[in-house]
Amino acid sequence: MKDRNNMKEPLVAPSILSTDFAHLGRTLATVNESKADWLHVDVMDGVFVPNISFGTPVLKAIQQHTKKPVELHLMIVQPERYLEIFARFNISQVTVHAEACTHLHSVVQQIKRLGCKAGVALNPHTPLGCLEYVIQDLDMVCLMSVNPGFGGQKFIPQTLDKISRLRELINRKGAAALIEVDGGINQTNVTEVVSAGADAVVAGSSVFDSSDPRQAIAALKGEQS
Ligand code: DX5
Ligand code: ZN
Repeated sequence: MKDRNNMKEPLVAPSILSTDFAHLGRTLATVNESKADWLHVDVMDGVFVPNISFGTPVLKAIQQHTKKPVELHLMIVQPERYLEIFARFNISQVTVHAEACTHLHSVVQQIKRLGCKAGVALNPHTPLGCLEYVIQDLDMVCLMSVNPGFGGQKFIPQTLDKISRLRELINRKGAAALIEVDGGINQTNVTEVVSAGADAVVAGSSVFDSSDPRQAIAALKGEQS
């Protein structure tokens, strides 16, 4: 574990994918009372990723019970078909996958027209070059540090180099996009992820498998218990 002294505090977005859905209300209440900056909500279609998570009924329940801004991470093909429906659930940011959008620039504009912030996620193997001419329009880039589809996977170490290179691209273009890193984040690796240049981290299993999720969120922000 790297020394956290002098390290900036990351924004932390708990991913509810690894929670017990029989007690979603309880989970959302815990996150409401925590220092989480927003809620990361993973929608999967079983086509773009080999898993299906949930859709509008669960988004409706989340909208009714969360006090945190909601980031929707869409792991679905042709996300443009669903943006209007999803945006009705008081979504703060929609993050689509570059690999799932033939017309990424157009999808980003569509998200903004719906009044949401726009994020683009990249799979671990996807080069940063696809962002070169769209980065200035983005509020966030989400670098996947696991192959999307499942919680509880191991962080892919090549992500660290990708974070630094994305930071260079953002600086070079004078863009304002935040860098979010999603997958396998825990208290042991968060420091190197933030040192490499990440602004925000998503954490699912390391938060919700812990006995005290609120404390686990605070610990990711660097707070001693
Ligand atoms: C994976 C999802 C992640 C996932 C993270 O496809 O996008 O948001 O829930 O879970 P952990 O933190 O367990 O890797
Ligand atoms: Zn996610």
